[in-house]
Amino acid sequence: MVGRDDDLEIVAKRLHKHGKITCLDGHVGVGKTSLVNVAAYKCYKAYLKGETPQLLIPSTTSYQLKKDGNVDQFCQEVFQGVARTLLNFAEELRDFDMPKGISLPHINSWLNSPIIQHVNSSLTGGFSVGSPQLGQVHIETGVAKASQVNPSAGFAQGGFESLVRSWLHEIFGVQGNGGVVCIIDNIELLETGSAARRTLEALRDKLFTVSGLRWAFCGANGVIHSLASSPRLTAFLSTPLDVSNIHPTALPPLIRARLAEFSTDPERVEHQLPIEIDDLVDLYLLVNANLRDLLGLADKFCEEWTGMRQPLTSKEKHAKFDKWLNKATFEKYHKLQSRISENAWAVLDIAMTRQFNGTFGAGDYSSFNSNSTVSFEKSTFARWIRDLVKLGLLSKSFDDSQSEDDGFSRDVFSVTANGALVHYARRKKNENFSVAEPVEWMRRVHV
Ligand SMILES: Nc1ncnc2c1ncn2[C@@H]1O[C@H](COP(=O)(O)OP(=O)(O)OP(=O)(O)O)[C@@H](O)[C@H]1O
Ligand SMILES: [Mg+2]
Repeated sequence: MVGRDDDLEIVAKRLHKHGKITCLDGHVGVGKTSLVNVAAYKCYKAYLKGETPQLLIPSTTSYQLKKDGNVDQFCQEVFQGVARTLLNFAEELRDFDMPKGISLPHINSWLNSPIIQHVNSSLTGGFSVGSPQLGQVHIETGVAKASQVNPSAGFAQGGFESLVRSWLHEIFGVQGNGGVVCIIDNIELLETGSAARRTLEALRDKLFTVSGLRWAFCGANGVIHSLASSPRLTAFLSTPLDVSNIHPTALPPLIRARLAEFSTDPERVEHQLPIEIDDLVDLYLLVNANLRDLLGLADKFCEEWTGMRQPLTSKEKHAKFDKWLNKATFEKYHKLQSRISENAWAVLDIAMTRQFNGTFGAGDYSSFNSNSTVSFEKSTFARWIRDLVKLGLLSKSFDDSQSEDDGFSRDVFSVTANGALVHYARRKKNENFSVAEPVEWMRRVHV
């Protein structure tokens, strides 16, 4: 990971505190999932190096809440995932050569526990976990095969859950011994703050109090902040960490780190890449610093040039990228252009000026007027925003309040990566004429 040293340290510290759930909020695609996963893995490694007495084990599965999801089913998924994680890591830890001087008493008790003694290799390469009273459950090991735990006949869900609970208790029974780090990711997919709160409240006593489990929540658009308004959850949550965009200056080392990770000769690969790193930095700004969309678009671009004569000169690369960018953004724009009114487009143009940098409150319509040739009224402003949200060019943040009908004026909106790309096409075509004083904040556009 590049550019996240401070964040990694904060997340690791929070995961080590056993009292509260670690919470991360940030724009879509900024790197929340990677941050929490890497932090959990570093915690695990720190234990192996003897730097901390707490053993934190990153869960091999991450969890996602579903709209109208079933609470019991979700809990079942979690306990199955935890069982898989413990089995996988038991294998790894068994082979691990402990550095001299580090005593790991609870690992020994885990590996020698009566429950794991019941773990037998089966013919298919999986394990059967069982005890005489509870029956048996078959667990496939290895990431690729580990999609399902198949509870066989007679093995009740409750039985499996209590087996895993007792297992966790045995390993992490002493508070502060550590736990399995489980992540509930993409909570914003529940679409409303109240749906997220309701679902998590229902899970609270079933999951968030289990000893030996450490929880982390990730979500975008303020959904994590909106959880704080639930009296049933607040005491369980740490203050959300706002994960911000990686600074554009960290992008070249970030790209090079990926080249180093994924190739044996990074320098040659950088030379052969059909795209210049400087162009990637520009593209990063164009997609409103959305790392996921940047990497996705870069991939798309590179795919188009596979098989071309290699290597290209910098100038050639740059020209090809420019041509591709224009084509890609103009096509996106043309598909949407006639679907909303010209005035709705004006909202996007003004939102992308330096005044707002892509994020604004619905109550800001009067400030929009100060830099616009189009006049915004409250009612029409609301309608135009809805149109832009429908096309996926704006996204709405979750509000902090309990009630869902608190009124439009509190809502906060952000331009999505798609919105930023379409806006780029408008600027290139000089169609953003509603902006009274265009401000240059994306240097690739030369109007
Ligand atoms: N600090 C980093 N260094 C290198 N690569 C990173 C870094 N942070 C994120 N990435 C890469 O950027 C992409 C997006 O990151 P990630 O999936 O963690 O974002 P996210 O915020 O969880 O996105 P979403 O909101 O869509 O779930 C991934 O491909 C990831 O590998
Ligand atoms: Mg994510």
